[in-house]
Amino acid sequence: MRLRQPPLIPYTSITRRVQELADQISSDVSVASLQVIVVLKGAVFFAVDLLKYLPPVGSVDFFKISTYIGNKSRGKVDVQYLPTDIINAKDVLLVEDILDTGYTTSFILDWLSKHSPQSIRLCVLIEKMKPRVVSGIKADYVGYRIEDEFVVGYGMDFNGMYRNLRDIYVLEVGNEDV
Ligand code: IMP
Ligand code: MG
Repeated sequence: MRLRQPPLIPYTSITRRVQELADQISSDVSVASLQVIVVLKGAVFFAVDLLKYLPPVGSVDFFKISTYIGNKSRGKVDVQYLPTDIINAKDVLLVEDILDTGYTTSFILDWLSKHSPQSIRLCVLIEKMKPRVVSGIKADYVGYRIEDEFVVGYGMDFNGMYRNLRDIYVLEVGNEDV
């Protein structure tokens, strides 16, 4: 397994892009009453940078689930942490690292909409350009659209590793790894 060089997205680009997303968000919604919900663990690095470029937000909370895609292509969801801040009648911004199959995000969006927010906006750092298993999910803010490759760094991991890399890399899996 190796990190493909050079990085797919260097940190200098990420900082610029995150700043642009923050500007877009603050021109779209009243940030002072915004409930930011960060999906653990992957989106933490992204969310921390994004929050630095936003004016004071209403609250920051977290969501943690694990999804498993079974052999019948139906996912199973293991909920590990649910937001505790009030969502009812609030504007919610969901911050995710990657939109891949869409399964994780759709589960979280369903959960949030059951708690009657005033609005939900979805902000993802990376959207993979491929058909979603769960259709109909549209991110309001997308940092980067990339090919369907496995990426690590800037919060994103492979079995827990590589999360703390500053830049985003494609992880190449060689014959010796399988
Ligand atoms: P989805 O449920 O298939 O949309 O997957 C979303 C989750 O899968 C993300 O929040 C990541 O935790 C993980 N994931 C999907 N693709 C990658 C990748 O390329 N690198 C690291 N994690 C990934
Ligand atoms: Mg992950």
